[in-house]
Amino acid sequence: MYPDRVVSGMRPTGSMHLGHYHGALKNWIRMQTELPCLYFVADWHALTTHYDDPAVIERSTWDMLVDWLAAGVDPSQSTLFIQSRVPEHAELHLLLSMATPLGWLERVPTYKDQIENLASKDLATYGFLGYPLLQAADVLIYRASQVPVGEDQVPHIEMMREIARRFNHLYGKEKGFEEKAQDAVKKLGSKRAKLYNELRTEYQQDGKEEALAQAKAMLDDAQSLSMGDRERLFGYLEGSRKLILVEPQARLTEAARLPGLDGRKMSKSYGNAIALREDKESVSKKIKTMPTDPARVRRSDAGDPERCPVWQFHQVYSDAPTQEWVVKGCKSAGIGCIECKQPVIDAIVKEQEPMHERAQPYLDDPSLVRAIVADGNDMARKLALETMRDVREAMGLAYT
Ligand code: TRP
Ligand code: SF4
Repeated sequence: MYPDRVVSGMRPTGSMHLGHYHGALKNWIRMQTELPCLYFVADWHALTTHYDDPAVIERSTWDMLVDWLAAGVDPSQSTLFIQSRVPEHAELHLLLSMATPLGWLERVPTYKDQIENLASKDLATYGFLGYPLLQAADVLIYRASQVPVGEDQVPHIEMMREIARRFNHLYGKEKGFEEKAQDAVKKLGSKRAKLYNELRTEYQQDGKEEALAQAKAMLDDAQSLSMGDRERLFGYLEGSRKLILVEPQARLTEAARLPGLDGRKMSKSYGNAIALREDKESVSKKIKTMPTDPARVRRSDAGDPERCPVWQFHQVYSDAPTQEWVVKGCKSAGIGCIECKQPVIDAIVKEQEPMHERAQPYLDDPSLVRAIVADGNDMARKLALETMRDVREAMGLAYT
C-alpha cells in the first residue's frame, strides 16, 4: 500500500573502515539502484553511548558522509541526511514510548551485552535503554519496507515490527470501521470485490500467505481508490484496523565478513582496522605485518589457511584460482606468506582507488557535502511530516 522504501543509518562514533564497507555499505550501494533509499547519520544514537564526548560525533559525522560518498553512495539516487536535523524522529520516539512495555527494551540482546562490553561507561541511562525504540522511530517514520543491517541488528528490526503492529492495533481503530471497509470493498467493482472477499477469507481462515499477497497486489493495481479506502482495505485483509505504520523487513548482507588484521572483529579500538581511505603505503605495510598461521615459523614449514587471518581476506578479495593457489601453496609450503599476501594488497589498493578519487572533490570543497545533506534533510523531513500527520491524527493529537 505504501511505496517500497529502504532506510538505514550508522552511528558517527569514529572513522569508517573496510569492515564497515564490506559489512554494510556495499549493501547500501547495491540497494540504491533497486529502490528509493534514505541513509542517515544516527548522531542521536551516537550520543546514547558518547554523551560525555560529543566532539567526536561532530567530527565523525562529516568524515562519515565523505566516506559514504567515496564508497559509492550516490546522492543523485539516495537521500543522505542527519537524524537530528529531522526532529520528528524524536517526536515519534516519544509517542511510541508511551505504549512500549519496558520488558521489550530490556530483553533486546544488545542491551545487556553493551552494558557489559562498555563497562567503563555508565550506560544505565534512560537514553540508552531507549536506543532500539529510537531506531524504530527512525524506520517507521518513513514507512520503510526494508532495512539493510548486519546480523546483530536483527532483534532490533523484530522489535520494530512489534512496535508497528502494536501501534496499528491501538490507534488504527476507527468508528464504524467494518461498515466503511465493506463500502470500500463494493467500490472495487463486483468482480474484484468478490475476489477480495475470497482471498480475505482464505487468509483469515486458512492462514494462506499467498492469498494475502495476491489481495495486496490486486489493491496496488486498483487505481480508483481514495487513500482512506485503500488503508481500510489493506487493514481489513488482516484484521479490523487501519495500517498506519508499516512493518519493515531486515535485509542482511550476504557477503563474507571481513575480520580485522588480527582475525578479531575489525574495529578501530582494537587497532586492527584498515581505514576506508587509507593510503596505499600504509595498506601495504599493514598487510605485510599481519599475523599468519603461527605454525609457519620458517618458510619451509607448511601451514593451514584455516588458522590464518590472511586467508579470510582472500575469501573476500580473491577469485577461485587465486584461492586454490593459496590453499595448495600454504599447505605444501610452496609459497611464502609475503608472496601470499601480495594479491590481497593489490586487491585492496584497487578497491580503494576509486574511493580516493570520489572523495577528492568533497575534500577540496566541503560545502558540497553540506549542500547534499541540506537537500537530504529537507527531503527526509517532508516524508517524516506526512507520517507524523497520520500518527498525530490517529493518536487524537490533531487538535484544531
Ligand atoms: N543501530 C544501528 C547500528 O548500530 C544504527 C541505526 C540507528 C540504524 N538507527 C537505525 C540502522 C535505523 C538501521 C535503521 O548499526
Ligand atoms: Fe596465511 Fe598465506 Fe601464509 Fe598460509 S601462506 S599462513 S594462508 S599468509
